[in-house]
Amino acid sequence: MVDPQKNSSGVSFRLKKILNSIDRMRPMPSTVTRILHALEDSKTNATMVGELLGLDQALAANVLQAANSAYLGYGPSCANLTDAVVRLGFGRIRTLVLGVEASSTLTGSLPGYRLGAGELWNHSVATAVAAQWFARAFSYPNPEDAYVAGLLHDMGKLMLDQFALADYDRLFDLVRNYGLTFYQVEQKLFDIDHAQVGGMMASKWNFPATLIEAIQCHHTPDQATIKPELSAIVNIANALCPLDQTTLSRLGKREVHPSSLVILKLTPEKLENMRGNMLQYLRVGSQES
Ligand SMILES: [Fe+2]
Ligand SMILES: [Fe+2]
Repeated sequence: MVDPQKNSSGVSFRLKKILNSIDRMRPMPSTVTRILHALEDSKTNATMVGELLGLDQALAANVLQAANSAYLGYGPSCANLTDAVVRLGFGRIRTLVLGVEASSTLTGSLPGYRLGAGELWNHSVATAVAAQWFARAFSYPNPEDAYVAGLLHDMGKLMLDQFALADYDRLFDLVRNYGLTFYQVEQKLFDIDHAQVGGMMASKWNFPATLIEAIQCHHTPDQATIKPELSAIVNIANALCPLDQTTLSRLGKREVHPSSLVILKLTPEKLENMRGNMLQYLRVGSQES
């Protein structure tokens, strides 16, 4: 029997609409793309990055603020962008650039997921900080990458929100009554989930391949092939980072994927132990700041 929801190529109309929305996405601001590419290029020096940062007021202000931040252990003596780049290093500059860009989109409300203003942002920052902590604990070579991947892991929800809103009742019925996670329900209703959509958005914005993969595989780290450890770290951070009760009830069930334990060579006991240490670290950090 022909499914009226599917066209001749077997792609559902809703999925087609979702793919079209990704296609029509606004491009990443060119300054951000240029900085990200410059940071990947071995011929780039701090002066060149400083000059690019100077083209964007918000980025420049954030980088100078971070370079003079007592919280990060620096003194207030960095007056120009080149010195700030030298002080912070390319890894942290990339984190800041993507963080500033993300914060402008992730802070709004998502009515389709019933997330109020700031709720997705808070969850994203909590996941980012936890991912960076786990990355350090596993001696992952680039903990800054784990931070960025954690910050952006759910960006696909921004794009799926309008579709979730249109199908809100069915979506929440499946989450509540069948014990499914959001990404499983999205798969059922839309033939695509927010992790896949996020990966497509990231690739449209020319993010580095490791970052695209970590966003795309944060619920399915077993599918990662470039840096499975990064996807597994974000998967664990997403599932174990602290959340307030209201947001928790709206985000639904969070799970550590079994393959995360395999990839990171962990036993459940060891993970539980690490979770305790991570939570203690976050508590101490929030008391100090
Ligand atoms: Fe997610
Ligand atoms: Fe998440």
